[in-house]
Amino acid sequence: MFQTKTIIKTIAAAGFLALSTGASFAEGDPVAGEAVFKKCSSCHMIGPDAKNKVGPALTGIIGMTAGTVEGYKYGKDLVAAGAAGLVWTDDEVFEYLKDPKKYLRAKLDNKKAKSKMSFKLKKEDQRKDVIAYLKTFSPEAEEGEAAESESTTTN
Ligand code: HEC
Repeated sequence: MFQTKTIIKTIAAAGFLALSTGASFAEGDPVAGEAVFKKCSSCHMIGPDAKNKVGPALTGIIGMTAGTVEGYKYGKDLVAAGAAGLVWTDDEVFEYLKDPKKYLRAKLDNKKAKSKMSFKLKKEDQRKDVIAYLKTFSPEAEEGEAAESESTTTN
C-alpha cells in the first residue's frame, strides 16, 4: 500500500519532468512561425538581405548579444541590457516578446527603463513558433543544437 503510493508519486514526478522538457522550444513550428512573423514584418526584416527598418534586422538574432545589430540605433536601455550580458536565447526572446518594456524593467531592475519596441506578443504558442522561425536564420543556434543531439545519440 505504502509502496504503491511512493511509486505513483515517483511516476507523477517523472511525468512532470517530461512535461516540462516537452515545453522546450525545440517544439515550436517554424512554418507556423513564418506566418506569425507577418506581425513582426512591419518593423523587422529577416534573411540574407535584411535591412534595419523601424526595428533591427533579425537575421542571426538567436545567440546574439542584445542591442548589437550593426547600424541600428537602439534605445539605451536595450543596449544597457546587452552590455550587462543579455544574450538572446530562446527563453529570453520568449519573455521579451510578451512585453518588451516590462521585460527590460525587470532585467535592469529599473522602473523607468523604456523599450523602443511597443509591440507585444501574448500568445505562448505564437511566441514559440516565431522563435523556431527566427532560429532557421540563426546558424549558430542551429549548430549548437545539432552538436547537442549528436552527443545524445553517441550516448
Ligand atoms: C511596431 C514595431 C515592431 C514590431 C511589430 C515588432 N518589433 Fe521587435 N523591435 C522593434 C524595435 C523598435 C526594436 C528595438 C528596441 C529597442 O531599441 O529598445 C525591436 C527589437 C527586437 C528584438 C531585439 C533585437 C536586438 O538586436 O537586440 C527582438 C528579438 C525583436 N524585436 C523581435 C520581434 C519579433 C519576433 C516580433 C514579432 C513577433 C517583433 N519584434 C515585432 C519594433 C518592433
